[in-house]
Order: sequence, then C-alpha cells, then structure tokens
Amino acid sequence: MSSTNEIRRSFLDYFGSNGHAVTPSAPLVPYNDPTLMFVNAGMVPFKNVFTGLETPPAPRATSSQKCVRAGGKHNDLDNVGYTARHHTFFEMLGNFSFGDYFKEQAIIHAWSLLTKEWGLPPEKLIATVYHTDDEAFDLWKKIAGLPDDKIIRIPTKDNFWAMGDDGPCGPCSEIFFDHGDHIPGGPPGSPDEDGDRFIEIWNLVFMQYEQAAGEITGELPKPSIDTGMGLERISAVMQGVHDNYDTDTFKALIAASEGLTGVQAQGAQTASHRVIADHLRSTSFLIADGVLPSNEGRGYVLRRIMRRAMRHAHLLGAKEPLMHRLVPALVAEMGQAYPELGRAEALVSEVLEREETRFRQTLDKGLKLLDEATESMEAGDSLPGETAFRLYDTYGFPYDLTEDALRARGIGVDKDGFDAAMAQQKAAARAAWKGSGAAADGELWFDIAEREGATEFTGYSATTGEGRVVALIVDGAETDHAVAGTDVIVLTNQTPFYGESGGQTGDAGTITGPGGLEIVISDTSKPLGRLHAHSGKIVSGRIGVGDTVHLAVDDERRDSIRSNHSATHLLHAALRHRLGDHVTQKGSLVAEDRLRFDFSHPKPLTPEDIAAIEAEVNAEIRHNQPVTTRLMSPDDAIAAGAMALFGEKYGEEVRVLSMGRTNWNGTGSNYSVELCGGTHVRATGDIGVFRIVSESAVSSGVRRIEALTGEAARQWLVGREDALKTIAGAMKAAPDEVTGRVLALLDERKRLERELADAKKQLALSGGGSGGGAAAPADEQVNGVTFSGQVIEGLEAKELRGLLDEAKKRMGSGVAAIAAVNDGRAAFAVAVTDDLTGTFNAVDLVRKGVEALGGKGGGGRPDMAQGGGPDGAKANEALAAVREALAV
Ligand code: ALA
Repeated sequence: MSSTNEIRRSFLDYFGSNGHAVTPSAPLVPYNDPTLMFVNAGMVPFKNVFTGLETPPAPRATSSQKCVRAGGKHNDLDNVGYTARHHTFFEMLGNFSFGDYFKEQAIIHAWSLLTKEWGLPPEKLIATVYHTDDEAFDLWKKIAGLPDDKIIRIPTKDNFWAMGDDGPCGPCSEIFFDHGDHIPGGPPGSPDEDGDRFIEIWNLVFMQYEQAAGEITGELPKPSIDTGMGLERISAVMQGVHDNYDTDTFKALIAASEGLTGVQAQGAQTASHRVIADHLRSTSFLIADGVLPSNEGRGYVLRRIMRRAMRHAHLLGAKEPLMHRLVPALVAEMGQAYPELGRAEALVSEVLEREETRFRQTLDKGLKLLDEATESMEAGDSLPGETAFRLYDTYGFPYDLTEDALRARGIGVDKDGFDAAMAQQKAAARAAWKGSGAAADGELWFDIAEREGATEFTGYSATTGEGRVVALIVDGAETDHAVAGTDVIVLTNQTPFYGESGGQTGDAGTITGPGGLEIVISDTSKPLGRLHAHSGKIVSGRIGVGDTVHLAVDDERRDSIRSNHSATHLLHAALRHRLGDHVTQKGSLVAEDRLRFDFSHPKPLTPEDIAAIEAEVNAEIRHNQPVTTRLMSPDDAIAAGAMALFGEKYGEEVRVLSMGRTNWNGTGSNYSVELCGGTHVRATGDIGVFRIVSESAVSSGVRRIEALTGEAARQWLVGREDALKTIAGAMKAAPDEVTGRVLALLDERKRLERELADAKKQLALSGGGSGGGAAAPADEQVNGVTFSGQVIEGLEAKELRGLLDEAKKRMGSGVAAIAAVNDGRAAFAVAVTDDLTGTFNAVDLVRKGVEALGGKGGGGRPDMAQGGGPDGAKANEALAAVREALAV
C-alpha cells in the first residue's frame, strides 16, 4: 500500500523523469483569472499558456495543484461529510503538454503509470471517449489493448471538458476504476452509472479549442494536453478502500479530531468528523494563501466553510474551540508537500481560534432559536426565510449552515424568503442612506454594489492582476462600453488598486486589455466604502462590461505611498512618546509626495521636540523590523495595544498593523500598533529616511506636521544643500563656514545701521539733510511759557525722545515740540518739563499737533507724548497748534 504522500511523489517523479517540468502548486486564489473564485483544476494556472497569451514555462509540465470547490460555479460544500468523494479541498495531479505531445502520448503515459508503475490490474480499468473521437477510441485499443466494450463512447458534455464559459476546452477521455461487483452501480453511460462501483480516476483532456460565453470561437494555437487525477480518489484505489475518507490522510485527521473530542467516528458522528477533516484542509490552505474570513467574496466563502465545521465541532460536544488544535495534525500530514502550510501554521491557528471563539458566542443562542422555530416541524417542512435571515443577520449563521443543521431532520429552508428578507434589509439601508442627505450620485453606487457586491481588493499582496469589468460610468451614468478619448470610471470584480480611504490617497496606474485597450487611471476612490472606482481616460481601444482586463498599479507611486503611510504610524508613536498620551490623531493625508498628520496638542512644538521626534522615527526606520498585519476584532485589537482612532467606524474585523521594534520599552508591544486598512512597507527600512518639513497650527489645540520620506525626503535635502552651496558660493566661503559668516554679517549690519542712524541724526540736526534739515531750535515765549518748536526733515522717529530730553534740559522750564518729517509723513512728539505738567499735559498737546498732521490719537505720559500723521507738509501747522494751546 502506498501513502498519499508517496502517490503524489511518485506521480510527479514519473512525469518529471519523462521530460516534464515539475511545477509547484499555484496559490488557491487565482488573482490572474477574474472568472474564478478559487483554482478548481490543475490547468487553471496554465490557462493563458494554452491559449497562447503566455509562453509556456516548458513544453511539458506536471503538478499537484491545490483546488477548492466551494462558492462560485463548482460548489461541493453542501455534500461534504455525507458522501464518499465530495471535498471542498482536493489535490489534482496533472500532466500538461503545451503543443508538445498529443493524444497518443497522453494515453501511453496514463496507461503506463497506472498499470506498470503502480501495478493496477488492467482488467479493472475502463476508458470513455467523446462519441465522435474515433482516434482516441483506436488509440485505447492499440495502446491498452482494451476490448471494445471497455472503451465507451459518451455523447454528452461529460466528455467535452471546459474550464468555464471562457477559456480552452476540448474532448476528453476518462479512465474509470471498477471497485468490484459487491458495490452497486453500472459503467459510465449506463442507466445506473451514478452508482458507486465505477469511479472516474483520471481525465485526459485533448485541448484543441477556445470558447467564449460557452461557444467555441476557434482552435488553440497548438493541440495540447491537460490531465487531472484526484489524488484522494487514486489514493483510495491504491490503498484498497472505496471511500476517500478512509485513506491515510483523512484517517489521520479524523483520528486527531476523535482524540480531541473523545467521540468516535461512528454512526451519525461520522459525518461531523468528515466535515471537520475536510473543512480543516480547505480553511487552512485558504488562510495560508492569504484569504481571511470576512463578510464578502472569498472571505465569506472561507467563513462559511469555517463555521460549518465549527457547528459540527459543537455537535460533537467540543466545549472549547477545536479547529485550531487540529492544525498540527494537518501540517504533519501535508506540510512537507506544501511548505506554505507550515510557514503559515501560526496564522492559520490564530485565525481559526479567533473565528471559533467568536462564533461560539452566538452559536448556542442561534441553535436555540432554530430548535424553537422547528419544534413542531416534520420532514418535508421548510423553515421560514425570515428566520433563516435572522440567524444569518443576528447570529452569524451562513445560509448553508442553517440548511446543513436541518438536513438530518429532512427540513428544508425557504430560500426565496431568505433572499426577500436580505433584499428588504438592503432597501432599508438605502433608504436610511438617502434620508441622510448624501450626494445624489450615491444612488448609482448603491445600484452597482447591490448588483455586483463589493469589489475584492487584492492589493495587499499584489500590484497587478486581472479583473472582470462589472460597470462603466461615463458622465455620471452607467454605460455598457466606452471608447478612446472618453473619461471613464471602471469597476471590476477584483482589483489591486487601493481606493482612497483612511487618509491614504487612491492608486493610479493602467488598465489594459484585448484589442489594444489602454486606460490611464489617475485616481481610485471607494464609494460606499466597498466599491473601488478607477477613474481615468481611455487612451486607445474600447472597453466593455464583461471584458477581462489587466490592472497594473503604478508601483513606484504606490511604494512612496506605502512609505508615507508607515512613516505616519511611526510619527504618531514618536509624538506620543515625546509629548504624552494626550496626543491623538485628528486627521491625516498620505499622498505619494508627502504626508500630513494632525494631532491634538495644546502648544507649538519646540525645535528640540521636532528634532527628537524626527530622530526617533529615523531610528525605528534603521531598525528595519518587518511590518506585520493581523486581523482581529476591534476589542481584541485595542486589548493588544492598538491605537484606535476616535470617531472612526470599524467593521467587525480590523487589520492591526504592528511596526518598529518588538517589546519596545519593555511593554511587550511593538513600537507602533494601529488599526489600519492601508497599504504599508514590508519592513521599516523601506521608508529610507524621514524628514519633518513643517509644524503649524490647524485650529486651537490641533497641530499639524508635514513630512517627507524616501526619495522625496532625499530630494528635499538635496535642495537645501544646493541652496547652501549657492549661498556659500556667493559669499566665497566653504559651506561649513557659512553660518559663522552670516552671523558676523548680521552683527556688521546692525552696527552699520546704528552708525547710519547717528549720521542721519547729525545731518538732520546740522541742517544738511536732503529735505533741508532742521530749522535751529528757537526758544520763544508764549503766554509766559518757554516754547521750543522744531521741524526736522529726514529725522527717524525713534530719535525724537532724545532730542526733546535735550531741549528740556536746555530750557530748564518749558514745552518742546518736534515734527520729524520722513517720506511725506511726520512723527510728532511733545515734552513738558516737570514743573509745568500740572498746567500742560504732553498727551493733550501732541494730539492737537497730530490732528493738524491729518492723523488721529497719540499717546504717552504727561511729560512726554508721541504720535504721527500722514500729512508731513503740515508740520509747521502742528507746531502752531501747540503754540495756540499754550496761549489759552
Ligand atoms: N482539467 C481537467 C479536469 O479538471 C483535467 O478534469
């Protein structure tokens, strides 16, 4: 007997030694094929090779491909656990010829491996061929020596294989194994072919045509071969069992679940153990390939599988989450063949445990509701749709889980009622949204979202991928196609383009497609928070709804955005560290050329603060620790130390970004832990350098920092350096002498200004000023008071006080007034000696003069006051006004 691992190895070795390139399994998520939810056959990764779009990796290849059939077109989920051969996850062994060998060699290889290498008895094998394929019929006869009655012509689609409505296809020939007459069932094509006796083990597809929308559109560039053999089935045959779940891999997994639950796989419990074993495989491999549970798309298919298994764990009486404890058994069985499984072991366990812990919180209540609702029901009855919807909406029961839960009692579920309740909830959401007064064009987005579901974002792990066009918008309305020169918004079922959200700017890039289509995408937005809308201009070609297009994000731009986004997280942490925990984010902008971060803090940052914060962020960058992302419930994330953003709305699951040193400050936590849906660098070192370029106020209590990273920061620094060099050149000094030289120049300038002012004063007093200078002070007697009045051209206002003090001294007792005229304006000041301040107030006197100068006000003390006016020509009238005041 051969183990499953040995059979897989032996298959690959056989074809490897027959000139085939042994190719590792592609990931389960076909980012490059928008028509499929998951890879569901061995040829999927080679689809474009068959059609000639891509060059073959080698003329012949062989692989053991991971496949999932759940969700989408091929959905085996409902049957798993109750049949001998249904799986959500299986492995397809295949050999491929890309225009190399064709029918004859394919049959020779298959027959030789089965009967010679593996020693299967030829008399237990039967072949089918497409009814018109005489060539295949004759080859089977010639190569295998099969009698005519063991080469069965099948006229149906069963023997014409296509991967889907679009793609390569061709007639096929299937090999069946006869498990023996003790099992009921007839050969293929007979009335009781659906029995279990004759089991298809290998499908040889003679790829010859290409089809679109289910119709053959032409021939492939070269006839090719695609074969597929279910590893689980052939293992059953080779291990002498009839049921896939009795093969070694499944026996090991079921034994592990028996061990942990203490419940034997017998009677009704068998189905539960089988469901658990099968679903453990699909969920673990999906998580290892980057799918995480969510309420949309692939993530929801994963969640449905997980929760279905978790209900069965509950049925077996498991008191604690079970699934994650089975992961080591799975890794022991399959980790060698699929190293990615071992690498993701911790993540897989974590995701399974969290999901099961969470689901258990509502599972009991949901089951109770289900029991009550079906108490008086009998086999053949149907659970009302609204109840199934309530289970879905309130208790997290996927529809198929409810169906599965009632299956044993023969009770169905009213699917139409369920769909109606779902539609009603959506309509209510739309009405509530409309009532909120949001923009009118939102209606359009609602229509698209309801019809097509959320856009699946593939851009955390890739920046290119294929997508199917689900909607086109031109001039605010949907259209079915658009041509060159049009500004268009393109929506696809999946995209690597990030839609603007959470402060991060949307991606730019290109969308290309058949017939020379090229669209330059300048921005991507995220209407309703779940659609990714690519805005751009069609440069050439034509795009239509339903087309498959290639999406490519502008990588360089995205890398800059990543740098700026990760640096924003480090900045946030550094600000809190330096300034205190009162610092919280008030807004942010992460663009390709800069980042902006607004935060609460009552006063401006000092230059020392800014320097320290910048240095700390750069130190984290140099530590170059990997950035890690985990998916958690918001509560768990906050418990793990994530900074939750006030006022931000989170879904039921959040991404938690950790970066910087681990166990920073002995807290056991990373330097930065934040909830974030954005795209980030792989390790902090990718940021390169971080530079704060401004700090300012946004509003009272909110400060703003603008900063640059990477190449933008480098260019900024180069710009500064260039400026310094220019200055140094002009000063004929070396750059590091510039500071000293500038300070010396400023001192020099101050000294010269002082000297210039003195010189001007002297010039003014001596009457040599450009405007004629001063009339010499002439003391006069006004009403018994000595008055000295003077107009001085070109005198600086700040010199007035000194001159008036001198006048007071000279007079001993009296009132002095000077008008200093400069550029047509006049500064005016009046001084009163102390003995006269009881009689005359300098402030009153100066105001009179100021009025005469066409000005207003003037102030100071009773002994000295100053003001000024625009009308310098009236300086003498100002003096006269004072004189007049003394006269009364
Ligand atoms: N692609 C073929 C199948 O899936 C081999 O059956």
